[in-house]
Amino acid sequence: MTNASLNQILDSACRSIQDQIGSGKVADYIPALARVDIKKFGASILTLDGESASFGDAKEPFSIQSISKVFSLTLVLNQIGDKLWERVHHEPSGNAFNSIVQLEMERGIPRNPFINAGALVLSDILLKDRTPDTSIQTILNFLNEIIGEKRIGIDHEVALSELETAHRNSSLVHFMKSCNNIENTVSDVLNVYCNHCSIAMSCEDLSRSMLFLAKEGFDPISNQRIISPELARRINSIMMLCGHYDASGDFAYRVGLPGKSGVGGGIVAIVPEVGVITVWSPGLNKNGNSLVGTSALEAIAKISNWNIL
Ligand code: DON
Repeated sequence: MTNASLNQILDSACRSIQDQIGSGKVADYIPALARVDIKKFGASILTLDGESASFGDAKEPFSIQSISKVFSLTLVLNQIGDKLWERVHHEPSGNAFNSIVQLEMERGIPRNPFINAGALVLSDILLKDRTPDTSIQTILNFLNEIIGEKRIGIDHEVALSELETAHRNSSLVHFMKSCNNIENTVSDVLNVYCNHCSIAMSCEDLSRSMLFLAKEGFDPISNQRIISPELARRINSIMMLCGHYDASGDFAYRVGLPGKSGVGGGIVAIVPEVGVITVWSPGLNKNGNSLVGTSALEAIAKISNWNIL
């Protein structure tokens, strides 16, 4: 596909949802996110053959939040492989991303790596033989190596804001520690988790950083294997079934692609054997996923006819 036809797809999809921009509600439980302009809107597509298209605020970095869980999952799967599933399940939760109730009923084993409890276990595993600082640096190095420049970093204001208000995440870690599913201190686990959620990236950077998931773990631009085909498939399956928490079914129904959202308003969707689409619009729906971003992805998938279903 040429850049011109990609641009045409992205342009007509984004124009079709223009009147929705500004709807939804920005995440206000993390004070630094509450200040983001709800009218921001960006979108980017990057294909395996290096063609790209961008729309609106696609170059502007935003808080990637839970999208970062895809990177920590990739690193942890490379670190311990399928042993991860002894500590985290791979089932949709059907509950809110920060729910406590299911964790207690299931004795401290989170339903999947994308709900907060599961991602906190990923942070605990990343801390093995590392300090909080070197764990966070490992994630940043991973991203900067793919992007090929040292420009991805943490938004420290967001990280501080998250750490100061992490009461619910703190409860989840404490509870899992009481069930022997956390090895490190609660504060180290929270430190790694809140910092990786506070990574700032643009739509263009996110599309670039997840291209390997569209090619069974191989990054065709840098010619590097990032993860084995088997493990890349597991990540895509979990994105498909759990990437939007209790709205994962709705996302699959409307978009038909593996995707991961964050409360910063970003969503990344993988089109296997084609490329990656990223959208950003900070207004969220009641499940904590970008309202306009989901509509934009639905329009892009429809116009391009990209889906795995
Ligand atoms: O822990 C939290 O609540 C946030 N750092 C991340 C939540 C999030 O992005 C959920 N996604 N939609």
